[in-house]
Amino acid sequence: PAPGWSIDADVVVVGSGVAGLTAALRCEAAGLTTVVVTKARLDDGSTRWAQGGIAAALGEGDTPEQHLADTLVAGAGLCDEDAVRILVTEGPDAVRRLIETGAHFDESEEGGLELTREGGHHRRRIAHAGGDATGAEISRALVEAVRARGVRTIENALVLDLLTDADGRTAGVTLHVMGEGQHDGVGAVHAPAVVLATGGMGQVFSATTNPSVSTGDGVALALRAGAEISDLEFVQFHPTVLFLGADAEGQQPLVSEAVRGEGAHLVDGDGVRFMVGQHELAELAPRDIVAKGIMRRMQEQDAEHMFLDARHFGADMWEHRFPTILAACRANGIDPVHEPIPIAPAAHYASGGVRTDSQGRTTVPGLYACGEVACTGVHGANRLASNSLLEGLVYAERIAADITASHAGHGLHARVPHPVPYPEVPAHPLLAPEDRFAIQRIMTEGAGVLRSAGSLARAAEQLQRLHADAREALVENGKTAEPGVDTWEATNLLCVARVLVAAALLREETRGCHWREDRPERDDTDWRRHIVVRLNPDRT
Ligand code: SIN
Repeated sequence: PAPGWSIDADVVVVGSGVAGLTAALRCEAAGLTTVVVTKARLDDGSTRWAQGGIAAALGEGDTPEQHLADTLVAGAGLCDEDAVRILVTEGPDAVRRLIETGAHFDESEEGGLELTREGGHHRRRIAHAGGDATGAEISRALVEAVRARGVRTIENALVLDLLTDADGRTAGVTLHVMGEGQHDGVGAVHAPAVVLATGGMGQVFSATTNPSVSTGDGVALALRAGAEISDLEFVQFHPTVLFLGADAEGQQPLVSEAVRGEGAHLVDGDGVRFMVGQHELAELAPRDIVAKGIMRRMQEQDAEHMFLDARHFGADMWEHRFPTILAACRANGIDPVHEPIPIAPAAHYASGGVRTDSQGRTTVPGLYACGEVACTGVHGANRLASNSLLEGLVYAERIAADITASHAGHGLHARVPHPVPYPEVPAHPLLAPEDRFAIQRIMTEGAGVLRSAGSLARAAEQLQRLHADAREALVENGKTAEPGVDTWEATNLLCVARVLVAAALLREETRGCHWREDRPERDDTDWRRHIVVRLNPDRT
């Protein structure tokens, strides 16, 4: 339907994690009229759940070059080195600016930042807050700053589609808003610059560390808008997620890599440290290697999980350094002070996403992307631990600078002409809310941590059937599910799942976090390249 209300702005930011709020604050500070729209409450995204911290060469003796080297190794040959160089060089100052914005990080007794280690890092370079509640502190500080500076925000606003003008340039977004007074129902924010910062898509799998809002909305919107998407096959499975049973579904508690960074051991059911001898960094090898080590030992021992043993930390250290994880374990009947923690890998992070250049520009003029929704090229085939908050900060700042410069030079329209010609959009076949669970089961069985041509082909066929059923109901019987958050989330999940599976099927090798049982070797001859997808934007 044509929007029932509309707002004009210079910039609309979609999403309210570290990337979205940083972009919004910088745009507003540059004098641009900025509106933040977010699907739930301002602090409901993934940022709030980040534990370990934010990586940057802030410690004595550390350099951006060393951070670059570790990032490239973790990325398994597919990082864009220039993009990584920007990340590691601009990172330290971006963290300092975050501190100036109001985020409080843990300090050492000497007064400087207390830094920890995580997988793949050869140095202590992870700044953290509240022990293991880094994301919550960053989110608090940014939400407070956005409110203090009066940035306009609309919560409970599910983004639907990108608006474009007759020349194919960005003209804003349509939204479905619920319970926000004057902006209820379907509406639009008209703006010549749209920043996608919608986060990840972990909910495409049954068990994930991601909150329930992480349903790939930004990637699905970008696909419908005809933007290029890259590297979607590289889904990172975090090695140590609290194991709550083989049938556990939805968001699962994370046990941060920082626990291993401070000396916890991975052990099997016999108490053997199975990562020792597999990699020079043992438990602190890059994340894909540790996840594979855990999965292999689980297969060998026909076990549902392995263990993380940090009893030697003692009660004081657990309470002081890892209070969030301690509370999550205890809430689930496990006391890490006295027993090893059962853990297993679970879906954690989308290394791919909406393809951008070094200014965060997508292939649609005026559409930008930053944070987990984006594929800037810094993560390659496997993100280095704690580089994600940093990427959100650095690239959001770059986007704000680019929008400001384009706006000043009239590279962006000063204002979108009115009325925006709303495109003749064919009705979209929406999935029923319960289809979400079918998608999650299909993806977990077919495209999870271990994949093969057979499992992926089965998943592709099952997903295609879901799509065909929804389309047939619409086209032949004129029926579709009632539009709403649940139906759009299921629809978006199906959209990203289909592209993810197609890319994983195409990539006939094992690289980084893409693990093909039937193609166990890395193939640098044929596959040192990216899979880029662009859908025909017929919006069905
Ligand atoms: C963790 O604390 O282990 C998560 C860090 C990350 O995903 O970068």
